[in-house]
Amino acid sequence: MPEHLTFCDPQRLEGDYLAEFLATKRVPQNLFYLLNGASSFYSYRSTELAQIGSHDELRFFRRQPFWSPDCRMAFVSLGCGNAGAEKPLLQQMHAEGCNVRYIGIDSSDSMLELAAANLADSDFPQTFALADFGLPEFPQQVEALTSDCDACIFAMMGGTFGNFDQSMIADLLGRLVPPKAYLYLDVVPMYAAEDANLKLRSRFSQLPENLRLFFDRLLELLGLTRDDGEIYGVESDDGVVSTIRYTFYFRPHTTIGITCLSEAAVLTPDDHVELISIRAYQVASLQAFMSRRGFEAVGSFVPDTGNLSHLWQRLLFVKEE
Ligand SMILES: C[S@@+](CC[C@H](N)C(=O)[O-])C[C@H]1O[C@@H](n2cnc3c(N)ncnc32)[C@H](O)[C@@H]1O
Repeated sequence: MPEHLTFCDPQRLEGDYLAEFLATKRVPQNLFYLLNGASSFYSYRSTELAQIGSHDELRFFRRQPFWSPDCRMAFVSLGCGNAGAEKPLLQQMHAEGCNVRYIGIDSSDSMLELAAANLADSDFPQTFALADFGLPEFPQQVEALTSDCDACIFAMMGGTFGNFDQSMIADLLGRLVPPKAYLYLDVVPMYAAEDANLKLRSRFSQLPENLRLFFDRLLELLGLTRDDGEIYGVESDDGVVSTIRYTFYFRPHTTIGITCLSEAAVLTPDDHVELISIRAYQVASLQAFMSRRGFEAVGSFVPDTGNLSHLWQRLLFVKEE
């Protein structure tokens, strides 16, 4: 039977995220995925996941020292969503006799429900924990779950890493991932050819249209509709790591009163509400950036992405002792 843990009260998390938005006019990215944000995300993401092949991933992982029946392994998915990105790997590990335990972490209860339903046909041990991996108590909570394992992989799949401020998330992972444990990142890579990067930029700039439901749902949670203003994207430099970064903002057409968490707030056309950032990486620069937090690159591969309009790249690191 899967184990379900609650490290944080979901109502408190939602309250904290909305309060953060009201104080900063920046949307913590967790807000997108609460309640039906989860299903609207997968109305788009499931098509993407169905296109990503698992052959290269299996070939890559079978070469790693922890791929052995003698190794008790924990796979901790940070922001697991519906667990679809890691499911093929976990199933194959288990089928080939690896002693793997899955720990799905998400701050969205509805995401954890999707993950549990998705893995219901798999019989490796599973734990689903409602938690915010950014809270100071989280490293201890996860340590208690993984202390009897010989190897531990902390994974951040599906571009989650690319939605955060880069120094903040790299520092957080540096504190969270213990020595000798692994970090597995799934990011969108930049291309070597500039014309391919131009197409990628164009695709990134269309995110609010391509993920219409997802953005509308977020605005609704903030007491807004798309008609109240415009969503626009800005490309800017990360500075610390070489990326193509798009940040999307919402600017109201006129001064507007909103009620969010039963609190009244006012937005004016001077407010540029920061919604979300997405990134594509120059991968060598990301590896160098992570090495400054003690993550040594083990290797990476580009899975077959079928007809998708951009690539994914998966990178494995090991934390230095
Ligand atoms: C971009 S989605 C990716 C989901 C999934 N890994 C995939 O590949 O489809 C990001 C996920 O991270 C979760 N998340 C974001 N910030 C989080 C935090 N601080 N703590 C826990 N979960 C978080 C969101 O709720 C969401 O499910």
